[in-house]
Amino acid sequence: MIRASNPGDGRPPAFSYRNVKRSDVSQRLLHCDQVSLEELAQRFGTPLYVYSASTIRDRVRAFKQAFRKIPNTVCYSVKANSNLGILLLLARMGCGFDVVSGGELERVQRVSRSAAKRVVFSGVGKTQDEMRAALKAGVLLFNVESQSELRALAECATRAKKKARIALRVNPDVPAETHPYISTGLHQHKFGIPIERARSLYVRASENKSLEIAGISVHIGSQITDVKPFSATMERVAELIRALRADGHEIKYIDAGGGLGIAYENQGGPGFAEQVASYADALTRPLKGLKVHLLLEPGRCIVGPAGALLTRLLYKKTNGEKKFLVVDAAMNDLLRPSLYRAYHEIVPVHSSSPNNPRETVDVVGPICETGDFFARDRELPITQEGDLLALLDAGAYGMVLASNYNTRPRPAEVLVDGKSVKLIRRRETMADLVRNET
Ligand code: LLP
Repeated sequence: MIRASNPGDGRPPAFSYRNVKRSDVSQRLLHCDQVSLEELAQRFGTPLYVYSASTIRDRVRAFKQAFRKIPNTVCYSVKANSNLGILLLLARMGCGFDVVSGGELERVQRVSRSAAKRVVFSGVGKTQDEMRAALKAGVLLFNVESQSELRALAECATRAKKKARIALRVNPDVPAETHPYISTGLHQHKFGIPIERARSLYVRASENKSLEIAGISVHIGSQITDVKPFSATMERVAELIRALRADGHEIKYIDAGGGLGIAYENQGGPGFAEQVASYADALTRPLKGLKVHLLLEPGRCIVGPAGALLTRLLYKKTNGEKKFLVVDAAMNDLLRPSLYRAYHEIVPVHSSSPNNPRETVDVVGPICETGDFFARDRELPITQEGDLLALLDAGAYGMVLASNYNTRPRPAEVLVDGKSVKLIRRRETMADLVRNET
């Protein structure tokens, strides 16, 4: 088995090349687990999201292994990929969930009634309806982000004759190196309560009979690959726990948020088990001696490398110096390159030799915007019209950010598990797109 990129690169074997014999000719074909992507394209069409169940499971196991020394719950962050098939797989592994809307909560409840007890509800703008639904579902924790939200939640809980278990999401003012759109832990960001103000707000919360103080939460951003900001954050949180406990509050849970990044490019670093072990060390070392239950909200690092977007090359064209590959997927299907200039590795599904001749191209979609690109000036093996390409590491923030721009139906999604293939979302039809229009 040969991996999609360099062997030994730390990439999980979710997508790897295998030799396939066809009328005595041996071909290298990209597979997801044991199923070739060519077969999936024939069965389900393109563009198509393909996920590896075994990779998701392996990554959850690695997470649990790394944090085994401290009581914890892995609350998978639903926003990264909210397909019911994937949520079901995670619920079956005993995961909890981090939700940020009534819609995400409803998804979790659809796959498992009992999982609501392991749900943390985050977000800066929870509505009264969402709060009511979460109280009714009996979620584990509300991560409250402002004084006004605290008041609204208390009123809601009083009316519902329930007690809301809360953590205040503190903003630790710790910088983290990532794209500015997904960094959240500085005072200039809209998230959380300034850590210096938290203590007085906990006092207010403790005075309300409909609120039960249960923890502290924090989240400094996403796609963070250096673990130092995580430990700097936990040091500030540990200090706050001591102060809050001295004030007489019961702080049982520390919700450390999510944010552990993945290697979209420059693979060759440590494998996931090692990465998550150093992340675990960074988070737990500052908490030594404090008896707490850690809640973790990973999203990207669980599902990102487990997914690819499969697309077909429609046309090759040349404009002056530039060569373009026009594929049938577009920014509406995978927004990350357009929105964050994010890098996704692109590999051909058929690879006749590892040393294919290469050319420098822009990989673009059919949408009428110059911003509709997947790669610019990228050196790729030479491909022909009709060939299949896979955009790797698309399992997180791929399908969830897809839209119908240009009246393009969103892709289908399949979940591969060894040899088995499940269609977990059928391709949208034109009827789906115009259903609500009068
Ligand atoms: N918890 C909270 C409170 C969050 O805001 C997020 C992500 C997570 C957990 C999960 O973070 P993760 O482990 O996946 O990094 N659309 C962007 C990412 C936005 C992340 C938003 N919050 C992207 O495509 O890179």
